[in-house]
Amino acid sequence: MRVLITGGAGFIGTNLVNHLVQRGTYQVVVLDNLSTHQQHPRFPGPARFVHGDFTNKAIMAECLENIDAVVHLAALSGVIDSVEDPRPSFELNVVGSFQLLGLARAARVTCFINASTGGALLGESAVPISEAMAPNPLSPYGASKLAIEGYCSAFSAAYGLQCLTLRFSNIYGPSSGHKRSAVATFIKNIIRKEPLVIYGDGSQTRDFLYVGDLVRGIEAALVRPSPGTYQLGFGQPTALQTLTSILQKVSGRNFSIRYERHRSGEVHSTWCDISKARRELGYAPTTDLEDGLRQTWAWYLENQDAWDRQSAQPPAADS
Ligand SMILES: NC(=O)c1ccc[n+]([C@@H]2O[C@H](COP(=O)([O-])OP(=O)(O)OC[C@H]3O[C@@H](n4cnc5c(N)ncnc54)[C@H](O)[C@@H]3O)[C@@H](O)[C@H]2O)c1
Repeated sequence: MRVLITGGAGFIGTNLVNHLVQRGTYQVVVLDNLSTHQQHPRFPGPARFVHGDFTNKAIMAECLENIDAVVHLAALSGVIDSVEDPRPSFELNVVGSFQLLGLARAARVTCFINASTGGALLGESAVPISEAMAPNPLSPYGASKLAIEGYCSAFSAAYGLQCLTLRFSNIYGPSSGHKRSAVATFIKNIIRKEPLVIYGDGSQTRDFLYVGDLVRGIEAALVRPSPGTYQLGFGQPTALQTLTSILQKVSGRNFSIRYERHRSGEVHSTWCDISKARRELGYAPTTDLEDGLRQTWAWYLENQDAWDRQSAQPPAADS
């Protein structure tokens, strides 16, 4: 299968490219404008890298030649950034992705996988959240993901492009050094001997999913392209306080925690019901949080030079 991955040099993309190349049955084209990276990425031999922007029609028409499936990961994914200025996420995640859908249709791509989000899109809903619930985004980022989900549904129904929307929960794991998500930020703070900052009282929950499980879920969607919306999480809630306790155990280090005021745009609690993805895609995450954090911690220790070169960012909620 020939797969084009937009945003393939990012956190999830890097892990997905490596996973698909290792499988040996995919020809992978990676498209990325490297907007979140300082360095040119290194991919395993068979993957072809194209440096470009997915809103560039000429580049995309060339990238889409002979492609069977698109995994569309490229996006602006900062929740707090989108609250500060809602326009950039609208322009890229909605207008840009709408154009890409049209180009994929014109190129006769069979399957289009749209990376979406659970918590930021559903808002404050009863947990566990499911695909059947009415969305109620709290941030412009969540709204932008909801808008393009609508176009994916329409392109499936009206034009026969098999669009699958995968709503990712809170993803963590190796190659996330540039991210500002809770796990990435906390681990960097621990290694730098800085206090951890929690916005709120720490009782808020997230459904943390190890990236290795996520990329297997994306592959499951590629091989069973059944149009619709699927939540990919671990299926368990973890309070931020619990996350910090596990990080203390995994790292073997002591650190302090500073509590600050809750920020608007962030949901208090998310926890995904993953039974639809289990049933219809054969999705089966297996990495529990302690195991996944051990692997992530090891990656951060081994790659400190690379991620430390990026300037220290204030903690913010990604995706
Ligand atoms: N990481 C999470 O926890 C999470 C949760 C829910 C949803 N998501 C979604 O998953 C997708 C991937 O997330 P990620 O964590 O890997 O993010 P990331 O920022 O690490 O990766 C995104 C990549 O897209 C590239 N990119 C951005 N704009 C581009 C453009 N105009 N043209 C080409 N490339 C461009 C960036 O350079 C980057 O490499 C996003 O759509 C995000 O909204 C992520």
